[in-house]
Amino acid sequence: MIIARTAVELRAALDSKIGSIGFVPTMGALHIGHRTLIEKARESNDIVVVSIFVNPTQFLAGEDLSKYPRREEADFKICELSGVDILFYPEVNTMYGSDEVSVKAPDVRGYILEGAIRPGHFDGVLSVVIKLLNLVGATRAYFGKKDAQQLALITQMVENFFMNVEIVAVDTVRESDGLALSSRNVYLSHEDRIEALKLSASLKHSTHLVMQGVRESNEIIKVMLDILEPLNVEYVAIVNRRFEAIDEVIIGDTIVLVAARVGSTRLIDNVWM
Ligand code: PAJ
Repeated sequence: MIIARTAVELRAALDSKIGSIGFVPTMGALHIGHRTLIEKARESNDIVVVSIFVNPTQFLAGEDLSKYPRREEADFKICELSGVDILFYPEVNTMYGSDEVSVKAPDVRGYILEGAIRPGHFDGVLSVVIKLLNLVGATRAYFGKKDAQQLALITQMVENFFMNVEIVAVDTVRESDGLALSSRNVYLSHEDRIEALKLSASLKHSTHLVMQGVRESNEIIKVMLDILEPLNVEYVAIVNRRFEAIDEVIIGDTIVLVAARVGSTRLIDNVWM
């Protein structure tokens, strides 16, 4: 595995390889969710590139940028064992200069739900993802459905800017008890971890209701809120794939989303129907 720390090193590493490029951008603290993205990239591409970069522009003031888990050695080992060909591990000054042209998330879709709670977050995500996609020149780039709004906005950016890359959506990987894997799960105490199961339990119940024939969004949301009690719920929402709120579930075009604080940790989860 080649470890590239600068754009020049990355370019040289890419020039030494031939074939289709599968790219998995991450912020490190790699878990089985990330590894599943890497496996998918490995299955369909000649070369697999992973980036690890804790992108400062997507963290708001007061968020967990400084304490975001950093596990260089373990992450390098996971990449090596997962068959990654090139690991891009840049410093902030490789990725950003001063007084830059910037990318802005769409006014509506970028500023609802996650974007309302974390205004500007998606501007930062899209800014770094466009840089990474351009640097790597990927044939396919892999993103998790766990971050559904991020995935929708990246897909839209690629369309809006006519970028020549296929965005591949990967199903959420969960612990056996249902908890969606997240780098932030390490913040959870033993008690928090039990409380956190309410997120996936509420989503599972939403699927159950839909299977029983319930379609009305408000009815589903109400039952979910009862399950989530007494967590500090930030939102429960039912949207279509374009992230428009819908009054009724449409099978094949619905995402049910939840965001809540468990102790001081923010968790998000969703289910696609
Ligand atoms: P990060 O949180 O490290 O996630 C990297 C990728 O892993 C994202 O596409 C995310 O959706 C996916 N992922 C996380 N948990 C997952 C799970 N349980 N199952 C499946 N996929 C999962 O998302 C980011 O980093 C950043 O915003 C980034 C896109 C790298 C831009 O900085």
